[in-house]
Amino acid sequence: MNVYDSARMADVLAPLGYRPVEAPEGADMVILNTCHIREKASEKVFSELGRLRLEKNRQAADEAGRRMIIAVAGCVAQAEGEEIMARAPFVDMVFGPQTYHQLPEMVARASRAAGERVLNTDFPVESKFDFLPGESADAGVSAFLSVQEGCDKFCTFCVVPYTRGAEFSRPAAQILAEARRMAASGTREITLLGQNVNAYHGDGPAGGTWGLGRLIREVAAIDGVERIRYTTSHPRDMEDDLIAAHGEVPQLMPFVHLPVQSGSDRILAAMNRKHTADDYRRLIDRMRAARPDLALSSDFIVGFPGERDADFAETLRLVTDIGYAQAYSFKYSARPGTPAAGLDDAQVPEPVKNERLAALQQLLNAQQVAFNQACVGRVLPVLLDRSGKRPGQLMGRSPFMQSVPVTAPQRLAGTVVDVLISAAHANSLAGEPVLADGVTVSGPAAPAPPVDFSNPPAWEATA
Ligand code: 5AD
Ligand code: SF4
Repeated sequence: MNVYDSARMADVLAPLGYRPVEAPEGADMVILNTCHIREKASEKVFSELGRLRLEKNRQAADEAGRRMIIAVAGCVAQAEGEEIMARAPFVDMVFGPQTYHQLPEMVARASRAAGERVLNTDFPVESKFDFLPGESADAGVSAFLSVQEGCDKFCTFCVVPYTRGAEFSRPAAQILAEARRMAASGTREITLLGQNVNAYHGDGPAGGTWGLGRLIREVAAIDGVERIRYTTSHPRDMEDDLIAAHGEVPQLMPFVHLPVQSGSDRILAAMNRKHTADDYRRLIDRMRAARPDLALSSDFIVGFPGERDADFAETLRLVTDIGYAQAYSFKYSARPGTPAAGLDDAQVPEPVKNERLAALQQLLNAQQVAFNQACVGRVLPVLLDRSGKRPGQLMGRSPFMQSVPVTAPQRLAGTVVDVLISAAHANSLAGEPVLADGVTVSGPAAPAPPVDFSNPPAWEATA
């Protein structure tokens, strides 16, 4: 979401003459677009600001006495705006995730020779999406499109409902217009974004409300859109029509990030997730019935207040049952203002969190390696969406989000090519494009029969 927001900030600033540069040295303005989700991300902001202050002091002032503008944007700005203003007098602008469409006005105020400082962390009544310019023409072969923002779920560990505000869905017509512009300018893969993307309920163009399933079907009908993904979703919002879309819309990729956080019903209840581990298991069964080769990813939190060994064992059991292609796992981080942070007696000691995280990651890594290994010998369609590290190399993504570097001529950039997968690494696959009739440069390919991921091998918990 922050990557998307940063791109949109660049779009808003372009008419003012700003363009993105690679490094802060010599820049006219630096915007730190920040994340507040865990303490570690939040802390980075102040250390980063220390470095920017030095750079600002190094710069010679222009004739009007102005130096680099330093701005803090995003969720840390939203949550700690006043503290930043007080602690960091060299910061010129502080604004939250819902006000960056007002950047031109903020920049004008901060650019005055008198150097006004701007704090803008209101939740405006208007939607920023009604004021942002169209996506820049070069959104890229694979690009994000924000469809929904904010969250009303109030999981007890999470700051998002406070920093991003209430759930809001963009009108479908606005999203389709943006998707058409992106496709016309060369975007082939669109990832529909939202904090709770499958809670999407936007106004339909002809009245009524569209859910995410309907939106996906309409985006799929746009010329040039070859792949659709969505992230991040919540198990409670996985509606029948969205599940059905996985079986019916060929452009919808068979990879879903569906965070479960924990496998213990006691902890899920304390987290206010409003579903049980078995609800999640049954949901995955239904999704795999619709799309048998569906691969899954999740987020996990270990050491949530009150988590006992038995609860953690339930998380390992759930992971073992589901079989993930990939996952993110975090130690619980107490966030100011959230209900779980106040559960002082129940906080789990740091060494216990460390142990559980290591054990969970060992299991998840083993599953990821096994999943990647199971791709060897298959021919996978790979969208070549960026240039590779080596000359003559292009980088692509498989349907399951694995990175696949291939040696291929530049003219194939932005296209989907069939690649015979020859090797698997922890985070990527290796392979060769299939030229014609199953033949690669190295010789004939004898594609292995497709692997049925609906029946993953019996994963062994190693801890
Ligand atoms: N501590 C640890 N992890 C958290 N997440 C959200 N809040 C916290 C927290 N307080 C994780 C969740 C979420 C992901 C984006 O970040 O797993 O799905
Ligand atoms: Fe945070 Fe996601 Fe829960 Fe919303 S649903 S409160 S964004 S973890």
